[in-house]
Amino acid sequence: MKYQANGQLPYGIKSQNKTTKFVVIAVMSLVLFTTVPLYYPSLTYSSFIFTSFNSDHESSSPNSSERSDEYDGAIPTSSTHKCDIFSGEWVPNPDAPFYTNKTCWAIHEHQNCMKYGRPDTEFMKWRWKPDGCELPVFNPAQFLELVRDKSLAFVGDSVARNQMQSLICLLSKVEYPIDVSYTSDQRFARWKYTTYNFTMATFWTPHLVKAEESDSNGPTHTGLFSLYLDEFDENWTTQVSDFDYILISGGHWFYRPAVFYENRRVVGCHYCLLPNVTDLGMYYGYRKAFRTAFKAINSLKNYKGVTYLRTLAPSHFEGGLWNDGGNCIRTRPFRSNETLLEGQSMELYMTQIEEFRAAEREGKKRGLKFRLLDTTQAMLLRPDGHPSRYGHWPHENVTLYNDCVHWCLPGPIDTWNDFLLEMLKTERLRSAEESLHSKDRKLLVR
Ligand SMILES: *[C@@H]1O[C@H](CO)[C@@H](O)[C@H](O)[C@H]1NC(C)=O
Ligand SMILES: *[C@@H]1O[C@H](CO)[C@@H](O)[C@H](O)[C@H]1NC(C)=O
Ligand SMILES: *[C@@H]1O[C@H](CO)[C@@H](O)[C@H](O)[C@H]1NC(C)=O
Ligand SMILES: *[C@@H]1O[C@H](CO)[C@@H](O)[C@H](O)[C@H]1NC(C)=O
Ligand SMILES: *[C@@H]1O[C@H](CO)[C@@H](O)[C@H](O)[C@H]1NC(C)=O
Ligand SMILES: *[C@@H]1O[C@H](CO)[C@@H](O)[C@H](O)[C@H]1NC(C)=O
Ligand SMILES: *[C@@H]1O[C@H](CO)[C@@H](O)[C@H](O)[C@H]1NC(C)=O
Repeated sequence: MKYQANGQLPYGIKSQNKTTKFVVIAVMSLVLFTTVPLYYPSLTYSSFIFTSFNSDHESSSPNSSERSDEYDGAIPTSSTHKCDIFSGEWVPNPDAPFYTNKTCWAIHEHQNCMKYGRPDTEFMKWRWKPDGCELPVFNPAQFLELVRDKSLAFVGDSVARNQMQSLICLLSKVEYPIDVSYTSDQRFARWKYTTYNFTMATFWTPHLVKAEESDSNGPTHTGLFSLYLDEFDENWTTQVSDFDYILISGGHWFYRPAVFYENRRVVGCHYCLLPNVTDLGMYYGYRKAFRTAFKAINSLKNYKGVTYLRTLAPSHFEGGLWNDGGNCIRTRPFRSNETLLEGQSMELYMTQIEEFRAAEREGKKRGLKFRLLDTTQAMLLRPDGHPSRYGHWPHENVTLYNDCVHWCLPGPIDTWNDFLLEMLKTERLRSAEESLHSKDRKLLVR
């Protein structure tokens, strides 16, 4: 695959905003408190609701004896419905991993860490344990049953693609998709699970808005981008209205130098070092980009889907910047009391949450659903999950030599799809309950 060199290299520059830990803790708990979207009253009647949710397809998993591949047809009552699944700890999991680079062909070169000689394997052997409940092991048959006749779009950068490839590997025990891409450009790949009539697509849009590289060098030799902060990136906005689920994410590319345009006029920049152009900082561009991307979704005429914001997954460069000797050599996760979200990651996270909330309010007016797939805390704790220097051969001249941004497969990013499955289940329960309520109302009216 030709995920061109610049598909792999994020990051520009330094400048750390030092926030006091106290403030960070306070804000963080505020955030966690307001992001408990999965609370749901217990639904004891779910087996009744889902009797039609049938099971002619379990047999499609030939080697299903190994673990939770069996699927009994009914949607289990979620064990997580009263719990914030995004806050917890990583605990040892001797059963993992559930696929390898030999059983799954979808692992991207630069995330195939074992191929490039990563010596330790501990990093694969953890599972996410939410405080107060269990997050079930990914069940591929159940996932595919839930998305039968549906479609899922990954909108974002190479980390979004990283998650899609994890999902292909997790589902591969049941079925591999066929390539139904409408272009040979791998950045816009489309996959179909024929047995389930489920389509999955990835849309490359690292800045989420209309953008172009105006200078491949720039002040930090990592490119200078023109970002049209109030213009849709039509590469994805014209393609997604038929999708049932849009999973949007973004972050790492905003570290790089950029000139910001609004109304087609330069309004400022981020570390462009151009005379007479005000440096507005990267958060300015990041906020506006998310605002415009959500606006695009809320203005899609025929869109009826559910929009997920997959929140920022912090990188873990230590001992230097990404292009200045920084690396990630840890071999075990942090416990939650060993680190805190702070500095730039904290700022970006808060920014996207704020824009998400605003878009959610706007979307509600026309019945659109927005959900938070909040991977930030779980991934903050996984400095051990990145390729580091095992994303390529040692002699290869790649720009992101120590990759502390993407995630090895198999690895902790697999958990994002555990979250996604859990949220799809919750969504099913919610809409079932909603239609039950509206039926009640109709009965009352009559
Ligand atoms: C299923 O198991 C059989 C024998 O145990 C093996 O030959 C076959 O390759 C397996 N198939 C898959 C898809 O793992
Ligand atoms: C898979 O990883 C092993 C090391 O565990 C490596 O020798 C092999 O080349 C890799 N295979 C593929 C297909 O990437
Ligand atoms: C496949 O799913 C699409 C929606 O994604 C639907 O329009 C179409 O009718 C389905 N095809 C079949 C054969 O069920
Ligand atoms: C849209 O895709 C085309 C073709 O891949 C590319 O040249 C263009 O830069 C993309 N537009 C944006 C805004 O990224
Ligand atoms: C910057 O602004 C000053 C004053 O408005 C002007 O004289 C100068 O030509 C500008 N420089 C550039 C490079 O545009
Ligand atoms: C973190 O919590 C664990 C378990 O509760 C405890 O053993 C450890 O000492 C704590 N570490 C720090 C740095 O507080
Ligand atoms: C690596 O590639 C860059 C750009 O292609 C080039 O400028 C640099 O000299 C190369 N470094 C080595 C060690 O080959």
